[in-house]
Amino acid sequence: MKTILVLAGDGIGPEVAGATCRIIEWFAAHRDFDVHLDHQLLHGACYDRYGVFLTDETLTDAEAADAILVGAEGGPKWDDLPLRGRLQDKSGLSRLRLELDLFANLLPVKPFTALMDESPLKLEIIDGVDFIILRELTGGVYFGEPRGIDVQPDGSRRGFDTQVYSSAEVERLARFGFELARGRRHRVCSVDKANVMESGVMWREEVTRLHVAEFSDVELQHMLADNCAMQLVRRPAQFDVIITDNLFGDILSDVGGAISASLGMLPSASLGPRDEAGKRCALYEPVHGSAPDIAGRDIANPLGAVLSFAMMLRLSFGRDADAELLEQSVRAVLSSGVRTPDIAKRGYTPVSTTKLTDTLIETLQRSHTTPLTT
Ligand code: NAI
Ligand code: MG
Repeated sequence: MKTILVLAGDGIGPEVAGATCRIIEWFAAHRDFDVHLDHQLLHGACYDRYGVFLTDETLTDAEAADAILVGAEGGPKWDDLPLRGRLQDKSGLSRLRLELDLFANLLPVKPFTALMDESPLKLEIIDGVDFIILRELTGGVYFGEPRGIDVQPDGSRRGFDTQVYSSAEVERLARFGFELARGRRHRVCSVDKANVMESGVMWREEVTRLHVAEFSDVELQHMLADNCAMQLVRRPAQFDVIITDNLFGDILSDVGGAISASLGMLPSASLGPRDEAGKRCALYEPVHGSAPDIAGRDIANPLGAVLSFAMMLRLSFGRDADAELLEQSVRAVLSSGVRTPDIAKRGYTPVSTTKLTDTLIETLQRSHTTPLTT
Protein backbone atom coordinates (compact mmCIF):
# COMPACT_ATOMS: atom_id res chain seq x y z
CA MET A 1 0.00 0.00 0.00
CA LYS A 2 1.36 3.40 -1.04
CA THR A 3 0.65 6.61 0.89
CA ILE A 4 0.07 9.97 -0.77
CA LEU A 5 0.12 12.95 1.59
CA VAL A 6 -2.37 15.54 0.31
CA LEU A 7 -1.76 19.17 1.31
CA ALA A 8 -4.58 21.09 -0.35
CA GLY A 9 -3.59 24.46 1.12
CA ASP A 10 -5.43 27.71 0.41
CA GLY A 11 -7.59 29.49 -2.17
CA ILE A 12 -8.24 27.25 -5.16
CA GLY A 13 -5.80 24.69 -3.66
CA PRO A 14 -8.59 22.60 -2.06
CA GLU A 15 -10.65 22.81 -5.30
CA VAL A 16 -7.89 21.51 -7.61
CA ALA A 17 -6.48 19.04 -5.05
CA GLY A 18 -10.04 17.79 -4.36
CA ALA A 19 -10.58 17.19 -8.08
CA THR A 20 -7.25 15.35 -8.27
CA CYS A 21 -8.14 13.15 -5.27
CA ARG A 22 -11.28 12.05 -7.14
CA ILE A 23 -9.04 11.02 -10.06
CA ILE A 24 -6.63 9.19 -7.72
CA GLU A 25 -9.61 7.36 -6.18
CA TRP A 26 -10.73 6.31 -9.66
CA PHE A 27 -7.29 4.77 -10.30
CA ALA A 28 -7.45 3.05 -6.90
CA ALA A 29 -10.87 1.58 -7.73
CA HIS A 30 -10.24 0.56 -11.36
CA ARG A 31 -6.51 0.11 -12.00
CA ASP A 32 -5.23 -1.88 -8.99
CA PHE A 33 -3.50 1.19 -7.61
CA ASP A 34 -3.19 0.30 -3.93
CA VAL A 35 -3.07 3.73 -2.34
CA HIS A 36 -4.06 5.56 0.82
CA LEU A 37 -4.67 9.34 0.90
CA ASP A 38 -3.62 11.19 4.04
CA HIS A 39 -4.89 14.81 4.29
CA GLN A 40 -3.15 17.56 6.29
CA LEU A 41 -3.24 21.36 6.47
CA LEU A 42 -0.72 23.58 4.67
CA HIS A 43 0.20 27.24 4.97
CA GLY A 44 -2.74 29.62 5.65
CA ALA A 45 -5.15 26.84 6.57
CA CYS A 46 -2.50 25.48 8.96
CA TYR A 47 -1.65 28.92 10.35
CA ASP A 48 -5.27 29.64 11.23
CA ARG A 49 -5.46 26.39 13.22
CA TYR A 50 -1.97 26.00 14.73
CA GLY A 51 -0.23 29.38 14.34
CA VAL A 52 2.49 27.91 12.08
CA PHE A 53 2.54 27.40 8.30
CA LEU A 54 3.60 23.75 8.59
CA THR A 55 3.49 21.53 11.68
CA ASP A 56 6.38 19.25 12.67
CA GLU A 57 3.95 16.29 12.49
CA THR A 58 3.10 17.08 8.87
CA LEU A 59 6.80 17.38 8.06
CA THR A 60 7.37 13.90 9.54
CA ASP A 61 4.41 12.53 7.54
CA ALA A 62 5.85 14.16 4.40
CA GLU A 63 9.21 12.46 4.93
CA ALA A 64 7.51 9.08 5.31
CA ALA A 65 4.99 9.41 2.44
CA ASP A 66 5.60 7.77 -0.94
CA ALA A 67 4.60 11.02 -2.63
CA ILE A 68 3.13 14.41 -1.72
CA LEU A 69 0.38 16.24 -3.60
CA VAL A 70 0.05 19.99 -3.02
CA GLY A 71 -2.80 22.28 -4.16
CA ALA A 72 -1.58 25.84 -3.62
CA GLU A 73 -0.72 28.14 -0.75
CA GLY A 74 -1.12 31.82 0.06
CA GLY A 75 -3.68 34.60 -0.01
CA PRO A 76 -4.07 38.22 1.12
CA LYS A 77 -5.01 37.15 4.66
CA TRP A 78 -1.56 35.64 5.26
CA ASP A 79 0.54 37.44 2.63
CA ASP A 80 -0.07 40.71 4.52
CA LEU A 81 0.92 39.42 8.00
CA PRO A 82 3.77 41.57 9.36
CA LEU A 83 6.17 38.60 9.54
CA ARG A 84 9.89 39.09 8.94
CA GLY A 85 12.76 36.66 8.68
CA ARG A 86 13.43 33.34 7.04
CA LEU A 87 11.29 32.23 4.13
CA GLN A 88 10.87 28.75 5.60
CA ASP A 89 9.10 30.30 8.62
CA LYS A 90 6.71 32.25 6.37
CA SER A 91 5.74 29.61 3.83
CA GLY A 92 4.73 26.02 4.52
CA LEU A 93 5.73 24.97 1.03
CA SER A 94 9.16 26.59 1.26
CA ARG A 95 9.80 24.80 4.56
CA LEU A 96 8.84 21.49 2.94
CA ARG A 97 11.10 22.14 -0.05
CA LEU A 98 14.04 23.01 2.17
CA GLU A 99 13.64 20.29 4.82
CA LEU A 100 13.00 17.51 2.28
CA ASP A 101 15.85 18.85 0.10
CA LEU A 102 13.58 18.98 -2.97
CA PHE A 103 16.26 20.62 -5.10
CA ALA A 104 15.12 19.53 -8.58
CA ASN A 105 11.92 21.19 -9.77
CA LEU A 106 10.74 19.81 -13.12
CA LEU A 107 8.33 21.93 -15.15
CA PRO A 108 7.40 20.35 -18.48
CA VAL A 109 5.90 22.66 -21.12
CA LYS A 110 4.25 20.80 -23.99
CA PRO A 111 1.04 22.51 -25.09
CA PHE A 112 -1.97 20.37 -25.96
CA THR A 113 -2.86 20.57 -29.65
CA ALA A 114 -6.51 21.19 -28.74
CA LEU A 115 -5.52 24.35 -26.83
CA MET A 116 -3.26 25.95 -29.42
CA ASP A 117 -5.98 28.42 -30.48
CA GLU A 118 -6.31 29.56 -26.88
CA SER A 119 -2.63 30.45 -26.47
CA PRO A 120 -1.87 34.17 -26.80
CA LEU A 121 1.08 33.14 -29.00
CA LYS A 122 0.66 32.38 -32.70
CA LEU A 123 0.23 28.77 -33.79
CA GLU A 124 3.48 28.74 -35.81
CA ILE A 125 5.38 29.87 -32.70
CA ILE A 126 4.06 27.21 -30.30
CA ASP A 127 3.97 24.39 -32.85
CA GLY A 128 6.46 21.71 -31.76
CA VAL A 129 7.11 23.19 -28.31
CA ASP A 130 8.30 20.48 -25.91
CA PHE A 131 10.74 21.55 -23.22
CA ILE A 132 11.40 21.12 -19.51
CA ILE A 133 12.49 23.86 -17.16
CA LEU A 134 14.66 22.37 -14.42
CA ARG A 135 14.61 24.94 -11.62
CA GLU A 136 16.91 24.77 -8.59
CA LEU A 137 14.48 24.90 -5.67
CA THR A 138 16.33 24.91 -2.34
CA GLY A 139 18.98 27.61 -2.72
CA GLY A 140 19.66 30.98 -4.26
CA VAL A 141 18.21 34.31 -3.30
CA TYR A 142 15.00 32.93 -1.77
CA PHE A 143 16.90 31.20 1.04
CA GLY A 144 20.26 33.06 1.09
CA GLU A 145 21.43 34.80 4.30
CA PRO A 146 21.66 37.58 5.29
CA ARG A 147 18.25 38.93 4.38
CA GLY A 148 16.13 41.57 5.99
CA ILE A 149 14.98 45.16 6.17
CA ASP A 150 17.23 47.64 8.07
CA VAL A 151 16.50 51.13 9.28
CA GLN A 152 19.40 53.44 8.44
CA PRO A 153 20.67 56.24 10.76
CA ASP A 154 18.84 58.79 8.59
CA GLY A 155 15.58 56.90 9.10
CA SER A 156 15.43 55.49 5.55
CA ARG A 157 15.05 51.74 5.12
CA ARG A 158 17.24 49.21 3.31
CA GLY A 159 15.85 45.87 2.08
CA PHE A 160 18.33 43.15 1.12
CA ASP A 161 18.57 39.49 0.07
CA THR A 162 21.55 37.30 -0.74
CA GLN A 163 21.94 35.34 -3.95
CA VAL A 164 24.25 32.47 -3.03
CA TYR A 165 25.07 29.05 -4.53
CA SER A 166 27.74 26.51 -3.64
CA SER A 167 29.47 24.63 -6.45
CA ALA A 168 27.93 21.40 -5.09
CA GLU A 169 24.42 22.82 -5.46
CA VAL A 170 25.09 23.89 -9.05
CA GLU A 171 26.69 20.57 -9.90
CA ARG A 172 23.85 18.37 -8.64
CA LEU A 173 21.28 20.42 -10.54
CA ALA A 174 23.37 20.46 -13.73
CA ARG A 175 23.96 16.70 -13.44
CA PHE A 176 20.22 16.14 -13.14
CA GLY A 177 19.68 18.33 -16.22
CA PHE A 178 22.29 16.58 -18.37
CA GLU A 179 20.90 13.16 -17.42
CA LEU A 180 17.39 14.37 -18.25
CA ALA A 181 18.57 15.63 -21.66
CA ARG A 182 20.13 12.21 -22.41
CA GLY A 183 16.61 10.75 -22.29
CA ARG A 184 15.32 13.50 -24.61
CA ARG A 185 16.88 15.53 -27.45
CA HIS A 186 20.35 15.87 -25.84
CA ARG A 187 20.25 19.66 -25.52
CA VAL A 188 20.75 21.73 -22.36
CA CYS A 189 20.41 25.50 -22.14
CA SER A 190 21.84 26.88 -18.87
CA VAL A 191 20.35 30.23 -17.86
CA ASP A 192 22.11 32.78 -15.62
CA LYS A 193 23.13 36.44 -15.38
CA ALA A 194 26.89 35.88 -15.58
CA ASN A 195 27.27 39.31 -17.17
CA VAL A 196 26.33 41.11 -13.94
CA MET A 197 26.42 38.57 -11.06
CA GLU A 198 29.38 36.78 -9.44
CA SER A 199 27.15 33.84 -8.52
CA GLY A 200 26.24 33.71 -12.23
CA VAL A 201 29.91 33.52 -13.25
CA MET A 202 30.45 30.62 -10.82
CA TRP A 203 27.20 28.92 -12.03
CA ARG A 204 28.35 29.09 -15.64
CA GLU A 205 31.87 27.80 -14.86
CA GLU A 206 30.56 24.84 -12.82
CA VAL A 207 28.06 23.82 -15.51
CA THR A 208 30.78 24.03 -18.18
CA ARG A 209 33.24 22.03 -16.05
CA LEU A 210 30.75 19.20 -15.51
CA HIS A 211 29.78 19.24 -19.18
CA VAL A 212 33.39 18.84 -20.34
CA ALA A 213 34.16 16.18 -17.72
CA GLU A 214 31.12 13.93 -18.10
CA PHE A 215 28.47 15.04 -20.59
CA SER A 216 30.17 16.04 -23.83
CA ASP A 217 27.58 13.92 -25.73
CA VAL A 218 24.97 16.55 -24.71
CA GLU A 219 24.89 19.92 -26.46
CA LEU A 220 25.32 22.78 -23.96
CA GLN A 221 24.37 26.40 -24.54
CA HIS A 222 24.54 29.29 -22.05
CA MET A 223 21.94 32.04 -22.17
CA LEU A 224 21.36 35.19 -20.15
CA ALA A 225 18.05 35.16 -18.28
CA ASP A 226 16.66 38.29 -19.92
CA ASN A 227 17.37 36.91 -23.38
CA CYS A 228 15.81 33.59 -22.33
CA ALA A 229 12.57 35.41 -21.37
CA MET A 230 12.45 36.84 -24.87
CA GLN A 231 13.40 33.58 -26.61
CA LEU A 232 10.64 31.72 -24.71
CA VAL A 233 8.10 34.02 -26.34
CA ARG A 234 9.84 34.46 -29.69
CA ARG A 235 10.95 30.89 -30.49
CA PRO A 236 10.10 28.48 -27.63
CA ALA A 237 10.50 25.37 -29.82
CA GLN A 238 14.31 25.80 -29.74
CA PHE A 239 14.50 24.54 -26.12
CA ASP A 240 14.85 20.98 -24.82
CA VAL A 241 16.07 21.17 -21.18
CA ILE A 242 16.52 24.57 -19.53
CA ILE A 243 18.49 24.52 -16.27
CA THR A 244 18.36 27.57 -14.06
CA ASP A 245 18.35 28.92 -10.52
CA ASN A 246 15.48 29.37 -8.10
CA LEU A 247 14.58 32.99 -8.99
CA PHE A 248 14.93 32.82 -12.78
CA GLY A 249 13.14 29.44 -12.83
CA ASP A 250 10.23 30.88 -10.86
CA ILE A 251 9.80 33.73 -13.32
CA LEU A 252 10.46 31.86 -16.56
CA SER A 253 8.09 29.01 -15.67
CA ASP A 254 5.11 31.37 -15.73
CA VAL A 255 5.91 32.14 -19.38
CA GLY A 256 5.26 28.44 -19.91
CA GLY A 257 1.75 29.12 -18.60
CA ALA A 258 1.11 31.61 -21.38
CA ILE A 259 2.51 29.23 -24.02
CA SER A 260 0.18 26.48 -22.72
CA ALA A 261 -2.91 28.77 -22.86
CA SER A 262 -3.31 29.00 -19.05
CA LEU A 263 -1.18 28.83 -15.94
CA GLY A 264 -3.86 26.40 -14.75
CA MET A 265 -2.60 23.77 -17.23
CA LEU A 266 0.97 23.41 -15.95
CA PRO A 267 2.09 20.52 -13.71
CA SER A 268 5.35 20.19 -11.78
CA ALA A 269 7.40 17.73 -9.78
CA SER A 270 9.96 18.56 -7.09
CA LEU A 271 12.44 15.79 -6.33
CA GLY A 272 15.05 15.23 -3.65
CA PRO A 273 18.27 13.20 -3.83
CA ARG A 274 18.02 9.40 -3.75
CA ASP A 275 18.96 7.66 -0.49
CA GLU A 276 20.97 4.40 -0.37
CA ALA A 277 17.79 2.39 -0.94
CA GLY A 278 17.05 4.43 -4.07
CA LYS A 279 14.07 6.23 -2.51
CA ARG A 280 13.64 9.97 -2.95
CA CYS A 281 11.16 12.49 -1.53
CA ALA A 282 8.85 13.79 -4.25
CA LEU A 283 6.27 16.55 -4.20
CA TYR A 284 3.84 17.21 -7.06
CA GLU A 285 1.92 20.45 -7.52
CA PRO A 286 0.45 22.68 -10.20
CA VAL A 287 2.66 25.66 -11.08
CA HIS A 288 -0.07 28.20 -10.33
CA GLY A 289 -0.77 29.83 -6.95
CA SER A 290 -3.94 30.03 -4.85
CA ALA A 291 -5.70 32.42 -7.30
CA PRO A 292 -7.70 34.36 -4.67
CA ASP A 293 -9.48 36.22 -7.50
CA ILE A 294 -11.39 33.06 -8.49
CA ALA A 295 -11.26 30.97 -5.27
CA GLY A 296 -14.46 29.43 -3.91
CA ARG A 297 -16.39 29.69 -7.20
CA ASP A 298 -15.82 26.19 -8.60
CA ILE A 299 -14.28 27.59 -11.81
CA ALA A 300 -10.55 26.87 -11.28
CA ASN A 301 -8.86 24.72 -13.89
CA PRO A 302 -7.91 21.46 -12.08
CA LEU A 303 -5.76 20.10 -14.93
CA GLY A 304 -2.40 21.46 -13.69
CA ALA A 305 -2.98 19.47 -10.49
CA VAL A 306 -4.36 16.42 -12.32
CA LEU A 307 -1.37 16.38 -14.70
CA SER A 308 0.92 16.66 -11.66
CA PHE A 309 -0.63 13.38 -10.53
CA ALA A 310 0.23 11.93 -13.97
CA MET A 311 3.86 12.95 -13.30
CA MET A 312 3.59 11.23 -9.90
CA LEU A 313 2.34 8.01 -11.53
CA ARG A 314 5.44 7.99 -13.76
CA LEU A 315 8.18 9.31 -11.49
CA SER A 316 7.19 7.94 -8.07
CA PHE A 317 5.19 4.81 -8.92
CA GLY A 318 6.57 3.69 -12.30
CA ARG A 319 2.98 3.39 -13.58
CA ASP A 320 3.61 4.71 -17.11
CA ALA A 321 0.54 3.07 -18.65
CA ASP A 322 -1.72 4.74 -16.06
CA ALA A 323 -0.06 8.12 -16.69
CA GLU A 324 -0.58 7.65 -20.43
CA LEU A 325 -4.25 6.75 -19.89
CA LEU A 326 -4.76 9.87 -17.78
CA GLU A 327 -3.01 12.20 -20.26
CA GLN A 328 -4.92 10.71 -23.17
CA SER A 329 -8.19 11.22 -21.33
CA VAL A 330 -7.26 14.86 -20.62
CA ARG A 331 -6.55 15.30 -24.35
CA ALA A 332 -9.94 13.79 -25.22
CA VAL A 333 -11.79 16.05 -22.76
CA LEU A 334 -10.04 19.17 -24.09
CA SER A 335 -10.82 18.17 -27.69
CA SER A 336 -14.50 17.72 -26.81
CA GLY A 337 -14.63 21.40 -25.78
CA VAL A 338 -15.47 20.72 -22.11
CA ARG A 339 -13.31 23.37 -20.44
CA THR A 340 -13.08 25.77 -17.51
CA PRO A 341 -13.32 29.54 -18.27
CA ASP A 342 -9.54 30.15 -18.44
CA ILE A 343 -9.23 27.88 -21.52
CA ALA A 344 -12.81 28.05 -22.86
CA LYS A 345 -13.15 27.71 -26.61
CA ARG A 346 -14.90 30.49 -28.48
CA GLY A 347 -18.57 29.59 -28.96
CA TYR A 348 -18.61 27.04 -26.12
CA THR A 349 -20.06 27.59 -22.63
CA PRO A 350 -17.37 27.09 -19.96
CA VAL A 351 -17.99 24.44 -17.30
CA SER A 352 -17.21 24.26 -13.57
CA THR A 353 -14.24 22.51 -11.93
CA THR A 354 -16.65 19.80 -10.77
CA LYS A 355 -18.18 19.29 -14.22
CA LEU A 356 -14.75 19.09 -15.91
CA THR A 357 -13.68 16.50 -13.32
CA ASP A 358 -16.92 14.51 -13.83
CA THR A 359 -16.28 14.49 -17.58
CA LEU A 360 -12.68 13.40 -17.09
CA ILE A 361 -13.79 10.50 -14.88
CA GLU A 362 -16.41 9.43 -17.45
CA THR A 363 -13.72 9.58 -20.14
CA LEU A 364 -11.31 7.53 -18.02
CA GLN A 365 -14.06 4.99 -17.44
CA ARG A 366 -14.80 4.73 -21.18
CA SER A 367 -11.18 4.56 -22.32
CA HIS A 368 -10.34 2.06 -19.60
CA THR A 369 -12.93 -0.34 -21.05
CA THR A 370 -12.52 0.67 -24.73
CA PRO A 371 -8.99 2.06 -25.29
CA LEU A 372 -8.98 5.54 -26.86
CA THR A 373 -7.57 6.01 -30.32
CA THR A 374 -6.55 9.67 -30.17
P1 NAI B 1 -1.72 32.76 -9.18
O1 NAI B 1 -0.97 31.73 -9.90
O2 NAI B 1 -2.49 32.33 -7.99
O3 NAI B 1 -2.74 33.48 -10.21
C1 NAI B 1 -2.31 34.21 -11.36
C2 NAI B 1 -3.48 34.34 -12.34
O4 NAI B 1 -3.75 33.08 -12.96
C3 NAI B 1 -4.80 34.75 -11.65
O5 NAI B 1 -5.53 35.61 -12.51
C4 NAI B 1 -5.52 33.45 -11.48
O6 NAI B 1 -6.93 33.58 -11.46
C5 NAI B 1 -5.06 32.64 -12.70
N1 NAI B 1 -5.02 31.21 -12.37
C6 NAI B 1 -4.08 30.58 -11.62
N2 NAI B 1 -4.35 29.28 -11.50
C7 NAI B 1 -5.51 29.07 -12.19
C8 NAI B 1 -6.31 27.91 -12.42
N3 NAI B 1 -5.99 26.70 -11.93
N4 NAI B 1 -7.43 28.06 -13.17
C9 NAI B 1 -7.76 29.25 -13.68
N5 NAI B 1 -7.05 30.38 -13.51
C10 NAI B 1 -5.92 30.29 -12.76
O7 NAI B 1 -0.68 33.90 -8.78
P2 NAI B 1 -0.88 35.23 -7.89
O8 NAI B 1 -2.24 35.78 -8.07
O9 NAI B 1 0.28 36.06 -8.18
O10 NAI B 1 -0.73 34.74 -6.37
C11 NAI B 1 -1.82 34.41 -5.53
C12 NAI B 1 -1.29 33.76 -4.25
O11 NAI B 1 -0.72 32.50 -4.58
C13 NAI B 1 -0.22 34.55 -3.51
O12 NAI B 1 -0.48 34.43 -2.13
C14 NAI B 1 1.06 33.85 -3.88
O13 NAI B 1 2.05 33.97 -2.88
C15 NAI B 1 0.59 32.42 -3.99
N6 NAI B 1 1.41 31.55 -4.85
C16 NAI B 1 1.53 30.26 -4.44
C17 NAI B 1 2.20 29.35 -5.21
C18 NAI B 1 2.22 27.93 -4.76
O14 NAI B 1 1.46 27.53 -3.90
N7 NAI B 1 3.05 27.08 -5.33
C19 NAI B 1 2.83 29.73 -6.48
C20 NAI B 1 2.58 31.10 -6.87
C21 NAI B 1 1.89 31.97 -6.06
MG1 MG C 1 6.09 31.47 -9.94
